[in-house]
Amino acid sequence: MKNKIEKYLTEVQSFEANSLEQLEAFRIKFLSKKGLVPLLFADFKLVAPEDRKEMGQLINSLKTAVQEKIITLKQLLENQTDKQASGLDLSLPATGSPGTRHPLSIVRNEIIDIFSRIGFTVSEGPEIEDDFHNFTALNFPPNHPARDMQDTFFIEKDPDIALRTHTSSVQVRVMESSEAPIRTISPGRVFRNEAISARAHCIFHQVEGLYIDTDVSFADLKHTLFYFAKEMFGETTKTRFRPSYFPFTEPSAEMDISCNICGGKGCNICKYTGWVEILGCGMVDPNVLEACRIDSKKFTGFAFGMGIERIAMLKYQINDLRLFFENDLRFLRQFVSAE
Ligand code: DAH
Repeated sequence: MKNKIEKYLTEVQSFEANSLEQLEAFRIKFLSKKGLVPLLFADFKLVAPEDRKEMGQLINSLKTAVQEKIITLKQLLENQTDKQASGLDLSLPATGSPGTRHPLSIVRNEIIDIFSRIGFTVSEGPEIEDDFHNFTALNFPPNHPARDMQDTFFIEKDPDIALRTHTSSVQVRVMESSEAPIRTISPGRVFRNEAISARAHCIFHQVEGLYIDTDVSFADLKHTLFYFAKEMFGETTKTRFRPSYFPFTEPSAEMDISCNICGGKGCNICKYTGWVEILGCGMVDPNVLEACRIDSKKFTGFAFGMGIERIAMLKYQINDLRLFFENDLRFLRQFVSAE
């Protein structure tokens, strides 16, 4: 009898059903009035008294195994028929994402992608900064009018703590905390006390770039940014550099690209000049290197900074900066990203 029960148990454990009918046949075989389990109970009378305890337990565990098997397989089969009936398999991975990325995120990711292909890492710094990282280390002398160029939101006075006015502050943090050579970009949010209009906002986004090594030259700067412009705006894009002034770079320049709207012929976006400005750049001033404990006799470097909104406006021909911050779904749904 013991052998028989054990044989039945293995049969129950390995049983699979493809349909509810097969499952019902299984139930009848084991549990119906004349099924195998009741038959075992009938034979139980003949078992010797000393074996009764063990046999009783064995028959009961067979009964439970059959009942549990029936419950599990029933659930499984009913789920399958539900799915077939609705034509949906809810366990499949979703196709496409339910939303879209914000255009500023799409452009930021594209900038990161372009620079990471030529070995730039991504670094971040705090949005609340002290005077040293936002100004002093970047060669803004105390009380220098250049500090007024960037209308600062102060949080505390003496010592000055403010919302960072540019991502150049991250340059300082990276130089302080790592050894040259350095090749990094720092995307992030910046803040300036400006009246909100189609062309200005008090919160916007920048990407800072920094490259420090031995023998870095202005030619490296030009070629890196030329590569960026072509990757971002297309192979035929031209660049030009105009002399400019930033306290933290010497020499400093602003880079224009040939207008991507009219191809350089002249339109209202480029104000009929054929060129649009996209970023500021220059060779890192030796004072900045020294303030960040980098040997300016051994190392040189270039830096650049661009506004993400500006790049996005040119890329998507958006003429009002405020659209980026209103989260109007009719605007946001127009942007599709690969991921
Ligand atoms: N920080 C500057 C700004 O906010 C942009 C900039 C210009 C960054 C020149 C740089 C640079 O690194 O070299 O207007």
